Amino acid sequence: MEPPSTNKKLLHIAAIETSCDETAIAIIEALYSGHSFRVLSNIVLSQVAMHAQWGGVVPNLAKREHEKNLPFLLLKSVQESNFSISKSQFSISKFRFHRESSAKPGQIPNSKTQILNSILEKNEELQNQFEKHLLHIPRPNIDLIAVTQGPGLEPALWVGVNFARALSMLWDIPLIGINHMEGHIASALLKQSGKISNFQFPISKKNKKISNYKRYMLKAIRYPALALLVSGGHTELVLIKKPLQYKIIGETRDDAAGEAFDKVARILGLSYPGGPQVSAEAQQSEVRLPKVVGSRTSDCFSLPRPMIHSKDFDFSFSGLKTAVLYMVRDLEKQGANIKKLRPAICKEFENAVVDVLVSKTIRAAKQYKIKTILLGGGVAANVSLQKNLAVAIKKDLPNSKFYMPNSNLTGDNALMIAAATIGHGKQAKKTAWKTLKPDANMRF
Ligand code: KG4
Ligand code: ZN
Repeated sequence: MEPPSTNKKLLHIAAIETSCDETAIAIIEALYSGHSFRVLSNIVLSQVAMHAQWGGVVPNLAKREHEKNLPFLLLKSVQESNFSISKSQFSISKFRFHRESSAKPGQIPNSKTQILNSILEKNEELQNQFEKHLLHIPRPNIDLIAVTQGPGLEPALWVGVNFARALSMLWDIPLIGINHMEGHIASALLKQSGKISNFQFPISKKNKKISNYKRYMLKAIRYPALALLVSGGHTELVLIKKPLQYKIIGETRDDAAGEAFDKVARILGLSYPGGPQVSAEAQQSEVRLPKVVGSRTSDCFSLPRPMIHSKDFDFSFSGLKTAVLYMVRDLEKQGANIKKLRPAICKEFENAVVDVLVSKTIRAAKQYKIKTILLGGGVAANVSLQKNLAVAIKKDLPNSKFYMPNSNLTGDNALMIAAATIGHGKQAKKTAWKTLKPDANMRF
């Protein structure tokens, strides 16, 4: 990345994430030349409790919540970042229309207000909140806006993208769309570094005040690398031959791993999101599943490991979910107490998913002579997956390194989007607000 003016060394990135059911904003301060940065603010507002009532994410509810919360969250993030905005400047809450020529400092020229209205016209609540919280604050010390462009739920993505467009246009700063999955890859590379490692931030009175901000760096890794990305919408193996060069070499043909966890949870009467619940149940498992009529094994039931022996690196989890459904039905017919057997069912299901994910990752890593393996996405929070993958890598690929995200960064967040932006800063454009659109099916 290059600074716009020769004497400016620091880049402040504001990242926005609204691809699913978390509204998230992060502001980081990076050096233009390095991969080390400070996190000035990192806020995630989860909608999980609201969607849980419906058994899964409802796209229009997600959209509404993002609209309601984004402007305030950005304001809070700016405040946390200690950018200098006085309190009195927050209070102006009405759109004010001015002729361009009569616009005074702090007032928005009429032309900009009209553009803003057209950007936000399909997001009425966002427009109201923008007006209330952001319209009249002076431009904070943000140099670049990054926003998740996809993949994700289209109505949810639009909110983040339109919000980012509005900010970029209003404050006249560059904008860039970021791939959510690249964010999950970056999350595995984030390392908190307590010491001033790669560079020294200029010491000033202001910096002293904010010296307790967490400092992170993006780990330097050896290539080729392989990322196993497992989330609610995706399950894919991504080959990374060199920095920023991504190629999907395998992916799910139907349900994603997280989706399978969520569906199995529903079959077993557990609430959304199912992943954490199923894995918590699995951890309590002491009993083995009794044999079900028609099952293949002799003394206990086992679920299939779909596509584990297929020559490609694709996955399929839909049949596994159906197998759980049939198994529960059979057990019920035999008069079994499903609630009692739930931990054992969860354990066997989790084992089946983990076996397939680990086995295919190891095979791909061997074939492509992988030196670094990364794990990312919501399902990366699964302890059994983490442990089994780590053990398999140690055994089968002792010369490869394995990295996964910190537990607070496995789920969707904006810090990973900010971190992914570091490699793409040059592509951000001041005019991008004119054309940027979400891409619900965005691929590498
Ligand atoms: O990456 P993420 O937060 O959102 C998407 O981009 O989809 O992933 C959410 C998914 C959900 O399906 C959730 O059930 C799953 O991650 N998940 C887990 C665990 N924690 C979250 N799956 C298995 N075990 C977990 N501990
Ligand atoms: Zn995600």
